[in-house]
Amino acid sequence: LFGHVEPAPKDPILGVTEAFLADPSPDKVNVGVGAYRDDNGKPVVLECVREAERRIAGNLNMEYLPMGGSIKMIEESLKLAYGEDSDFIKDKRIAAVQALSGTGACRLFADFQRRFLPNSQIYIPTPTWSNHHNIWRDAQVPQRTFTYYHPESRGLDFAGLMDDIKNAPNGSFFLLHACAHNPTGVDPTEEQWREISYQFKIKNHFPFFDMAYQGFASGDPERDAKAIRIFLEDGHQIGCAQSYAKNMGLYGQRAGCLSILCEDEMQAVSVKSQLQQIARPMYSNPPVHGALVVSIILNDPELKSLWLKEVKGMADRIIGMRKALRENLEGLGSPLSWDHITNQIGMFCYSGITPEQVDRLTNEYHIYMTRNGRISMAGVTTGNVAYLANAIHEVTKT
Ligand code: LMR
Repeated sequence: LFGHVEPAPKDPILGVTEAFLADPSPDKVNVGVGAYRDDNGKPVVLECVREAERRIAGNLNMEYLPMGGSIKMIEESLKLAYGEDSDFIKDKRIAAVQALSGTGACRLFADFQRRFLPNSQIYIPTPTWSNHHNIWRDAQVPQRTFTYYHPESRGLDFAGLMDDIKNAPNGSFFLLHACAHNPTGVDPTEEQWREISYQFKIKNHFPFFDMAYQGFASGDPERDAKAIRIFLEDGHQIGCAQSYAKNMGLYGQRAGCLSILCEDEMQAVSVKSQLQQIARPMYSNPPVHGALVVSIILNDPELKSLWLKEVKGMADRIIGMRKALRENLEGLGSPLSWDHITNQIGMFCYSGITPEQVDRLTNEYHIYMTRNGRISMAGVTTGNVAYLANAIHEVTKT
């Protein structure tokens, strides 16, 4: 019956974790998946999360959440993305549902797009998080790409980006990374975001923001929402996928939110009901634990400020590791420029290391990373940075 089923190709990111786990070498280093580690290379549960869990303990029943998820968690998520005093929230113009983290939020949106805008396409940046392609493919929304990264400068190809925005048919859907672009670590400046927003307005494009790393770009979630706020000020309707995987370290809890800013309250009610209808046959309703943790933290001023401090702590450790990796490479006398390690931001460094060099890093040095040369800086520690730098130097020197 299933004889024709071939093994699926390995996932370019999660397949790296599988290979890392299977490697018995004591020297092995995982800079593949974007998951934060402390300076001992250990996964972290934030203190604010521990405290929220203490408050939940004993108080939790195991009832279903509504199809659209926790109302409290959604309210807090909207404040985080749209601003504490947002008129759009007051006017109830935002249709929002709890989602299975950022992936689930993107997928719900893609399915919504397919169902209600069947002739639309999605413009996806080159490069992007590999799973974006899978998500819109499985939702059967045709994909186009737009220019984003400039390999020579290892920065933003702003001219190419603007050209592609101008050349796309009016009213196109664009996937934008709200901050800390994955995999490049390259974000537009505030001024560039304003120009992008202006051009979107002229073209009547719809921006869908994937905000998986709010807090990891600048260390401050409020600042990291700047791109979204610019688009809101300019009067766009937007969509937004939020994830608490990285900024609250709730990876396995699958806590996230999908929101769509509508024209008015009535439209928002309809859109939300349809999003719930898409969720119901897939998973009925989202999981309760992570949603409780998120709403307790964001709803309590003391816990929220502890969270903000902890997010900044994670972002700062990563910045420190960028500096250390670059200095180590320079100290080894690498003839190449490694400025981009410290110029890029967020969790990733788009190193420029070729797929063949990555293979050597893995085979000869037990260093695991995606073949596009992305280094998850969150996996770099004071204990492994010298080893990593040495290996990179060995495979990149000519
Ligand atoms: C990543 O890019 O490494 C993360 O978003 C994890 C994932 O699911 O791919």
